[in-house]
Parts: sequence; C-alpha cells; structure tokens
Amino acid sequence: MATITLKNVTKSFGNSRIIEKFDAEFADGEFITLLGPSGCGKTTTLRMIAGFEKPTTGEIFIGDKKVSGEDTFVPPENRNIGMVFQSYAVWPHMNVFDNVAYPLKIRKRPKAEIQEKVRNILEEMGLSDYEKTMPSKLSGGQQQRVALGRALVSESGILLCDEPLSNLDARLRKKMRREIKEIQKKYAITIVYVTHDLTEAVDMSDRIFVLNEGVVQQVGTPKEILETPANDFVREFIF
Ligand SMILES: Nc1ncnc2c1ncn2[C@@H]1O[C@H](COP(=O)(O)OP(=O)(O)O)[C@@H](O)[C@H]1O
Ligand SMILES: [Mg+2]
Repeated sequence: MATITLKNVTKSFGNSRIIEKFDAEFADGEFITLLGPSGCGKTTTLRMIAGFEKPTTGEIFIGDKKVSGEDTFVPPENRNIGMVFQSYAVWPHMNVFDNVAYPLKIRKRPKAEIQEKVRNILEEMGLSDYEKTMPSKLSGGQQQRVALGRALVSESGILLCDEPLSNLDARLRKKMRREIKEIQKKYAITIVYVTHDLTEAVDMSDRIFVLNEGVVQQVGTPKEILETPANDFVREFIF
C-alpha cells in the first residue's frame, strides 16, 4: 500500500524551527500538493519523506512500515520511492535508455526484464526514438520525461516531485501537467507534488496542503481551498 503517514513531524536546523508539527495521511493513489511561498518548508518536508533529512521529532510511515522515528531510519535507497526534482533530474553522462534503466540496474534485475520495462516506459513517454540519445541533446520537456520515466520504472507506487516543471516554458508546463496527471491515473501512484504555483496545484491535486513558515494553514480539495480559505494567509495566497 502506497500510503504515507506523518505523525507529529517537526524539523529544526540549529535553533530555527523549519517545520511545525506536521500530521498527515496521504492515501494510496492520492495526488497531494504541498503549496506555499518560497522558504515555507516544502522541500524540507519532501526530503524527510524521501529520507534525505531526518525529522527532529516524530515518525514517518510508508504503508505500514516505519521509515523514520526515534530509533528507526531507513535510508533513501531502501524506501523504494520515485523522485523528480527541479534540477539534476537526469544523469548527464548516461543516454536515455541507461538513465531510465538505472533503478533496475542497481537492483541487479535480469537484462531481459530491464529491456522490457525500459522500452515500455520509453514508449509511454514518447521517447522510443531516443534510447541512445544523450540528455544534452533533448529539450527540457523531454529531459523531464526521462526523469519521470526513471521514477516510474521501479514501480514503487510513490512519486515525489519538487517543482519539476518550474524550468519549463508556460506552454510546455501545461502539457506536462496533463501528462503527469494521466500517468498518475494510469499507474495509480501516490504523488506528493511540491509547488508555489497555485494554478498547478489546483489543476492537478486531489488535496492541497497550504503551508506558511512551516505551519500547515489549510488542507482541502482545490475547490475547498478556493471557495473557503481558512484564514487571511490562504485568502491572500489564492488572490
Ligand atoms: N540544510 C539546511 N540548513 C539550514 N537551513 C535550511 C536547510 N535546508 C533548508 N533550510 C531552511 O529551511 C527553510 C525552508 O526551506 P525549504 O524547505 O527549502 O523551503 P521551500 O522548498 O518551501 O522553498 C528555509 O528558511 C531554508 O533556508
Ligand atoms: Mg523548495
């Protein structure tokens, strides 16, 4: 079950508290967006779920398995989570096929299985003609599709996205939003998506968590957030 649970999670760097008591349950197959201005703690939250940061207090569960807690810490490579970040999304020294194959190769899957799975994903991503192409020869949108393919190939059921479209132009951004949404439905994956872009959040999410200064301001469907903002911060943010 690709659920994610945060219990009482806080995060401090030195003396500054970055995340205040984050409690949440993300359901299997849900599209969750963490929305808020720059510096509000979105990336830090995502990095704790991924295992790149350890919460200062609290627990994180993936499915029934505790991956982070007082005396538990499962490292990122053992959490079986796909990730697409804004930068360094693809390995520049590997061609498209090898980029997508990477998660399977490090798990030492049989060659035939790797070939089959990677080719299926590349076809899905419209990249079948680019197997041998190096990322530098691809457009921004194609590179993000490679990153997405690599995240999906391991069939982990959970995908974390940190502003994956912010370096793309407006037209391409819109197109990629649709594609990500379609992929999510097709593969029934749980997505935690970070953005500061309200339109993106409203367009894609089942539920939005609005954050400000490390504090969750409101949790709701896009409609609920837009129609009944919980406080002045949310009201101004959506204005
Ligand atoms: N490794 C770190 N050490 C100290 N402060 C950090 C570190 N990572 C993030 N921060 C601080 O935590 C706050 C939240 O950052 P971040 O999670 O990146 O916000 P967002 O992704 O919403 O822009 C910022 O004030 C940032 O400077
Ligand atoms: Mg960030």
